[in-house]
Amino acid sequence: VKILSVVGARPQFVKLAPVAAACATAGVEHVIVHTGQHYDELLSDVFFSTLQIPTPDVQLGIGSGSHAEQTGAMLTALEPVLLTHSPDWVLVYGDTNSTLAAALAAVKVHLPVAHLEAGLRSFNRRMPEEHNRVLTDHTADLLLAPTDVAASHLAREGLAERTVVVGDVMTDVLHQVAAAVTGAGPELLERFRMTARGFSVATLHRAENTDDPARLAAIIDGLAAVDHPVLLLAHPRLRAKAAEHGLRLDLGSVRVHEPLGYPDLVALVSQARGVITDSGGLQKEAFELRVPCTTVRTETEWVETVELGWNVLARPEEIAVAATRAQPAATEAAPYGDGHAAERVVEALAQT
Ligand code: UD1
Repeated sequence: VKILSVVGARPQFVKLAPVAAACATAGVEHVIVHTGQHYDELLSDVFFSTLQIPTPDVQLGIGSGSHAEQTGAMLTALEPVLLTHSPDWVLVYGDTNSTLAAALAAVKVHLPVAHLEAGLRSFNRRMPEEHNRVLTDHTADLLLAPTDVAASHLAREGLAERTVVVGDVMTDVLHQVAAAVTGAGPELLERFRMTARGFSVATLHRAENTDDPARLAAIIDGLAAVDHPVLLLAHPRLRAKAAEHGLRLDLGSVRVHEPLGYPDLVALVSQARGVITDSGGLQKEAFELRVPCTTVRTETEWVETVELGWNVLARPEEIAVAATRAQPAATEAAPYGDGHAAERVVEALAQT
């Protein structure tokens, strides 16, 4: 079996890492295509090097643009690549414009599509990620769901027959990396001048939070009012939008830093008192590391983290209180699988 993975944005590189390793172990031919949606060293290259992901076979170099420009350019560039490689499966990841473009390009040239992280729903039809995941799920031939909740969404949409629950591949890689970085904490704390459990790690990048000046200003005020230092790992979209709206990020408790590579992020979050974010991946990473998370959104796809008490949804003015809440009750629950999801992905593709 020959698998062709299409990736383009930071969380997709994290998801690709365990899949590429599982393909290598199983002796499966694997072609990697990078759309170029994320092109900064800190959002792209550093993930390939630190997670030992093979260099992409094809770089499309699409870059930024409006949704239509970005998605359209990817569609056009992907078509000849898919025809040349003619894989048994086109594997697409998550919910970005790269995901939708690849699924659509593949189905139009009659190549089977598998969607990894299928069935997640925010039920917020204003989010670009929600359009991307709903459309991709309904385009794909095989839906690789991370959880039973995700599979239940697919069943409700009439897609049960194409669905396999495999677990969450981000949890595979998180546990491998967390084991490898135990001991890295003290050096990192010194580098950031933080004390163990004395700071929060924050990230923000979603259009719903960054693009409206009033909302972004309220979120920055919320972070600034936290009673301990907040290390804000600023995504380029956040920096660009703050500059555009004339807003300063480094107010009150906030210390601004550039994005971190994955092992550093995991080591730092392991030492943190809390996480404040709008990232899907980070909500789960905080849960797996048992660090309380405050999610600056009105809904989450990773509902298990909220149900188990480790994540709360907060409005901007609620951030400061939420970020200082007491540690939740311990839990042994493992809703995101056993760390072998990527092996199940490759098995499912090899069998079907
Ligand atoms: C994208 C995904 C989002 C995912 C996120 C992870 C879509 C619609 N959104 O959001 O689901 O959670 O990636 O980071 O696909 N930019 C740079 N350098 C880069 C990349 C982007 O400076 O390497 C800037 C550009 O100004 C660009 C802006 O960031 O216009 C937004 O980038 P884009 O790829 O459109 O979306 P993200 O916000 O990164």
